[in-house]
Amino acid sequence: NGRVHTTLSGLRPEVVAHRGSSHTRPEHTAAAYLLAIEEGADAVECDVRLTADRHLVCVHDRRIDRTSTGAGLVSSLTLEQLMEYDYGTWRDQPSAGVLTFDSLLDLLAAAPRRVDLAVETKHPNKFRGAVEVELARVLRDRGLAPEPDVTGADPTESAPDPDRTRVRAMSFSVLAMRRVGELLPGLPRVLLNEAGVRRQVRTGGLPYGIPICGISTGLLRRDPGMVQRQHERGHAVHVYTVDEPDDIRRCLEAGIDGIITNRPAVVREAVAAV
Ligand code: G3P
Ligand code: CA
Repeated sequence: NGRVHTTLSGLRPEVVAHRGSSHTRPEHTAAAYLLAIEEGADAVECDVRLTADRHLVCVHDRRIDRTSTGAGLVSSLTLEQLMEYDYGTWRDQPSAGVLTFDSLLDLLAAAPRRVDLAVETKHPNKFRGAVEVELARVLRDRGLAPEPDVTGADPTESAPDPDRTRVRAMSFSVLAMRRVGELLPGLPRVLLNEAGVRRQVRTGGLPYGIPICGISTGLLRRDPGMVQRQHERGHAVHVYTVDEPDDIRRCLEAGIDGIITNRPAVVREAVAAV
């Protein structure tokens, strides 16, 4: 009906650049994230995996074959070995190194404005919970892990630094999200959903106090009413991966809270026009 509903927060939906501005630049490279920032993304998304020597790197697949000049499992290669390959030329673009999670946090800290981060821990992987443990360690070391409010104090008095990146964790693994809840109780979490817990996400509340659900464009097309139902339960809804005009329109009509896209400039423009 063309009506644009408000988001849970009452603000315009957040534009989240999926693997950076990855329609235009090679995914998970510094170039992709810098372009996303230039294009006005509110936040960026990245996938993280552990290397054989337990460094977090931003790589989507279990293997590096698709997105680099190398081959092999991320979990079987050391960071030094991963650095031997190129991660830009597979898209016929300038050379790029493997992006460590640390380098991505540096890049966001150096941005001219606050840019938030949605970090997805990839499962299954051979390290299981060690991925979340390392993520928690890095975020704590950098002061990016918000403390849960247990005092009942006025939240405005302990408001986070307005310029500092706000981080949330995501996963398709409900166990991973439970673990993050235990390790970092103040960190917002997104349960990504396609098949595993679909029924639960469609019909009921989210488990383990997870506040946000992340759904696919396919699920939104089939059941747009779920957004309203989740909002009524107090959950925000984010959608991935929204690149086409019809899907962008559907998100805006449904009152989606976060739009995860490979084309942040296109979505930014559509959101600004609302
Ligand atoms: O942002 C969620 C989305 O990235 C999940 O799917 O396969 O792109 O990691 P995938
Ligand atoms: Ca992802």
